[in-house]
Amino acid sequence: MKRHVPLRLGMVGGGAGALIGNVHRIAARIDGEFQLVAGALSSTPEKAQQSAATLGIAEDRAYDNFEKMAETESAREDGIEVVAICTPNHLHGPASKAFLDRGIHVICDKPLTATMAQARELTEAAKSSGALFFLTHNYSGYPQIRLAREMVARGDLGKIRLVMVEYAQDWLTEPSDSKQAEWRSDPERAGAGGAIGDIGTHAFQLARFVTGMLPEKLAADLTAFVPGRKLDDNANVLMRYAGGAKGTLWCSQVAPGTENGLKLRVYGDKGGLEWAHEAPETLWFTPFGEAARKLRRGGPGTTDSAAESSRIPAGHPEGYLEGFANLYREAAAAIRAQQEGRPLPDPLLVPDLQDGLEGLHFIDACIRSDEADNGWVEVMP
Ligand SMILES: NC(=O)c1ccc[n+]([C@@H]2O[C@H](COP(=O)([O-])OP(=O)(O)OC[C@H]3O[C@@H](n4cnc5c(N)ncnc54)[C@H](O)[C@@H]3O)[C@@H](O)[C@H]2O)c1
Repeated sequence: MKRHVPLRLGMVGGGAGALIGNVHRIAARIDGEFQLVAGALSSTPEKAQQSAATLGIAEDRAYDNFEKMAETESAREDGIEVVAICTPNHLHGPASKAFLDRGIHVICDKPLTATMAQARELTEAAKSSGALFFLTHNYSGYPQIRLAREMVARGDLGKIRLVMVEYAQDWLTEPSDSKQAEWRSDPERAGAGGAIGDIGTHAFQLARFVTGMLPEKLAADLTAFVPGRKLDDNANVLMRYAGGAKGTLWCSQVAPGTENGLKLRVYGDKGGLEWAHEAPETLWFTPFGEAARKLRRGGPGTTDSAAESSRIPAGHPEGYLEGFANLYREAAAAIRAQQEGRPLPDPLLVPDLQDGLEGLHFIDACIRSDEADNGWVEVMP
């Protein structure tokens, strides 16, 4: 019997005190597809070494910076096959490029990069690398979101007319000097988008994933409500799609009482769908003129196609970590297919470079619109 060998994973960022690095580590482990063996985990060598020691990474594979890690790991016979990038945004581009240039697959957090120039460089690097690039817009990993996508594609809602998506948080309601708030309010490290880059891109990608539709134009009203804040903490965006559909996207980090309030509603001429991240195992389907249907995650073994994205029976809650892990599982399947010379899985649902580019264009369009007195601008000029 063939022994299952986890893919050798490295990590950049995600050291002690970091937010999302540990989520990546959990997601990578859930299905036994990855083993963390190397890291450049922090911005200072001392903290990078300490963090690596805590995670059981061998001393000679605990690096002070990602450049050294890419160089050394690519020269080792047992070097990493894939790396997770969990740093602030301004390093996504340079770090991803360093590994892609050496043929190492990349799983990077969003947004793609801090600037369009970095995105262009990264695109070139991905084109000339044999390695794959994935982006963790993790909300598209939920089973009921995959089901929603299928229902829209199948025409259960009819012709789509309205797309309403929102992502509201409250943690930046007042000035904050937390580690996470600090770089997120600095244009050099976050990029040009505040809330639009941090959570607006998630909302944008979720709507895009479920409907398959990319808005042609948008009009955005961006605000930094907290005095002195350099980047937006609230955005109201109108969207127009080819074919006449209309949309709204609201993202906010200054809405007291909201937590991670990501919510999507889609309405067609035959029916609607509603999903909220805070109750992710329920998808409401409202065929026009009929009783509303509450579609719950069925779990493995059920006929529901979303069952493929589930791990445990219905009634045992699955959530954020499992949804995140679905992207890791699909990235692993794609990497293994590529290593073994097989075609990549089709469809490949884990977000990729194109999703990242669309997200950056969304940020850019919001800023162009806001600067033009909230006028209509093309999303992908
Ligand atoms: N997908 C999601 O749901 C989600 C959620 C939160 C954050 N994120 C994204 O993840 C990324 C990190 O966000 P966070 O909240 O975890 O930030 P954080 O500030 O908590 O952690 C960033 C980590 O990067 C490290 N770092 C900084 N410079 C480095 C360098 N030169 N080399 C190596 N490591 C370095 C820091 O030391 C820290 O460990 C951001 O791009 C953010 O947009 C995604």
